[in-house]
Amino acid sequence: MSAIVTVTNLHKRFGSLVVLNGIDVTFEQGQITTIIGQSGTGKSVLFKNMIGILKPDRGEIWYRDTCVTRASEDELIELRRSFGYSFQGAALFDSMTVAENIAFPLREVLGIRDKREHSKRIAEMLEWIGLPGIESKYPVELSGGMRKRVGVARSLVTKPEVLLFDEPTTGLDPVLGETINDLVVRVNEELGLTCILITHDIQASFRISDRIAFLSDGVIAEEGTPQSVSKSEHPMVRKFIENSFSLLEV
Ligand SMILES: Nc1ncnc2c1ncn2[C@@H]1O[C@H](COP(=O)(O)OP(=O)(O)O)[C@@H](O)[C@H]1O
Ligand SMILES: [Mg+2]
Repeated sequence: MSAIVTVTNLHKRFGSLVVLNGIDVTFEQGQITTIIGQSGTGKSVLFKNMIGILKPDRGEIWYRDTCVTRASEDELIELRRSFGYSFQGAALFDSMTVAENIAFPLREVLGIRDKREHSKRIAEMLEWIGLPGIESKYPVELSGGMRKRVGVARSLVTKPEVLLFDEPTTGLDPVLGETINDLVVRVNEELGLTCILITHDIQASFRISDRIAFLSDGVIAEEGTPQSVSKSEHPMVRKFIENSFSLLEV
């Protein structure tokens, strides 16, 4: 097992609001790790620090042997090629076709301008997500589930090593949520990507993750396999788990 992303003693505040207060967590290559925590605990802020969109006040993040938190803008541009990311609530660009949406990171992240190369990679990705031939459709012509899958294609087309996925299933009905969860598992198993997810869907996360990290009060309150985390004594973690079990019993 080897670490691909390591976060040490990460602190981030906005004015007087302390959000991250000493985060320590290691993400292992080839695994699915899910970050769970209440709304507003800084999960998205942690993601943004991981790709250098936000700078921490203290602490470090390493991607392999690159220090993300001290990287120059040029190094960050290079580094972001290794990450596929989908931000919370990220939508497709409505004024662009599916093909143009997927081509966007090819151009902006990888700097590829060759249209034939675009077409080839777009077709490959659409095939892979099970939606071949929809290149010229506009997002409004697609169902919610199809749009989400195209979003996944857009974050994978650059062939990243790590997929950062911020609440991919929030707002989807359970069946669609499952489709996206299955897609994450395929990304991990078939493409070998390290997947780091943020989700509110505790049940799904316990099923698909290799590791679970609980963020509470600015720190990782609990981290481990789903099995070990399910036995946590931490009050916040217990509350989360018991709430999701009580939902199951309804
Ligand atoms: N750029 C920003 N400027 C000021 N406050 C921010 C900024 N980004 C996030 N916050 C605040 O930090 C806290 C954590 O936000 P976030 O990481 O989005 O939470 P979540 O765990 O729900 O993803 C929230 O209180 C949010 O309002
Ligand atoms: Mg968030």
